[in-house]
Amino acid sequence: MRIGVIGCGYVGLVTGACLADVGHEVVCTDNDLTKIDALNRGEIPIYEAHLDEVVERNHRQGRLTFMGNMAEAVSAVEATFICVGTPPLEDGSADLSSIENVARLIATEARGPQLVIEKSTVPAQTGQRLKRALEIYNHSGINFRVASNPEFLRESTAVMDFLHPPRIVVGVEDETSEQQLRSLFDPILHQTFQCPVHEAKCPPTTPPTFIVTSINSAEIIKHASNSFLAMKICYANLLADLCDRLGADVEQVTQAMGLDPRIGPSFLSAGLGFGGFCLPKDVQAFIHLGEKAGIDFGLLRQVELINKKRIDRFLERAKEELWILKGKQVGMLGISFKPDTDDIRFAPSLELIKRLQGEGASVRAFDPQALQKAKALFPALEACGNEYQAAEGADALMIVTEWPQFKDLDWKRVRKSMARPLVLDGRNLLDPAQMRAWGFEYFCMGRPNPGSTPAGG
Ligand code: UGA
Repeated sequence: MRIGVIGCGYVGLVTGACLADVGHEVVCTDNDLTKIDALNRGEIPIYEAHLDEVVERNHRQGRLTFMGNMAEAVSAVEATFICVGTPPLEDGSADLSSIENVARLIATEARGPQLVIEKSTVPAQTGQRLKRALEIYNHSGINFRVASNPEFLRESTAVMDFLHPPRIVVGVEDETSEQQLRSLFDPILHQTFQCPVHEAKCPPTTPPTFIVTSINSAEIIKHASNSFLAMKICYANLLADLCDRLGADVEQVTQAMGLDPRIGPSFLSAGLGFGGFCLPKDVQAFIHLGEKAGIDFGLLRQVELINKKRIDRFLERAKEELWILKGKQVGMLGISFKPDTDDIRFAPSLELIKRLQGEGASVRAFDPQALQKAKALFPALEACGNEYQAAEGADALMIVTEWPQFKDLDWKRVRKSMARPLVLDGRNLLDPAQMRAWGFEYFCMGRPNPGSTPAGG
């Protein structure tokens, strides 16, 4: 199938590259011409596992092209995926102006019938608006159909998530669109393609469930899923605070809870809370949508609040130990919003750095991927070449992102180099008993410190 993808950000690039990899002919376009030029030179603007090899192979073999001329890109395809950004506006609702611009472009430039698919995360009823915009600006009598195909790609595993998803959701209005999407996703539905990742690392190929819904339902499924994940994390964080107070261990609690198949084990890791460009923005947009529809979304307002308070709580803990932040040197391990990505958007680290620096502490940080981006935001941040430099001379070392490599540091060396061997582990990455045994003052989230009394007891 000849497919167009508008928007070469995270979602667009992964979608375009993976659809080409399973055998389609894909043309990707973007209004940022520097991005298109870079892609044509073989440069990938984001750090995402396996994406470079998939893009390179398909580009070289001619199935994947990058075109700066957006009008030309959408003119002769059978289906177009809209993957443009829908950033939050001041009031928390999603900015849909890029979606409208794209609708106008397709309506005026398409030369034949087309299925227009929303892949960007949008509030319910956007599909109807999209359809209307396509009708209004279409002066050639072309038949457009609209569908929704929400993405459930996690940064850092996006390629694998696309190729081996547990479910593919399509919101459609007619049989033809459903059939077209079924055949478009056929290689993935039947797992008949050659997986680009070495077989040993390839997840078991259980075929995904293909779920056909109305467009409105598909749009809601996306917001509802991300908001539910955010809620689960917040619940674990509430439990962590309770465990801190009462001397229990949140990991024991959540592990046992997670074994109940009705609850499930994932997204119950307590820590500094959720960040990134999706969960915070989608919770906000969902609250906005719900309240506009007259539904009390107080539950999700609490989720936002609980998440915001994670940083307060962590800093309170730091101050209990450090007393005065002014003039103190804080080492920070991890800046990206989660491991295996260079993305720092809405990362908890940003608020932490801002507040530590605001109170007069100096921050020396290390992150395997995100340092450059952080340095651009915080010129006073000292970017360190490795973990040991970040710890050297520090009055406290904070673990903010759970990059696995931090586990394997020579912690005895770290302790010797610090001004005070105080480790505040915001991600429960390390073993409390071991850290104590190595001579650290060690604090984490909701796990008891051997030898210390619970905060409330
Ligand atoms: C999220 C969803 O997981 C994807 O399914 C969705 O497609 C994507 O948003 C999107 O809307 O595009 P992502 O933003 O990549 O994916 O990140 P997650 O893996 O969901 O993590 C979000 C945040 O929650 C991170 O800051 C992570 O550290 C935090 N988290 C996650 C926890 O604090 N505890 C957990 O147990 C899990």
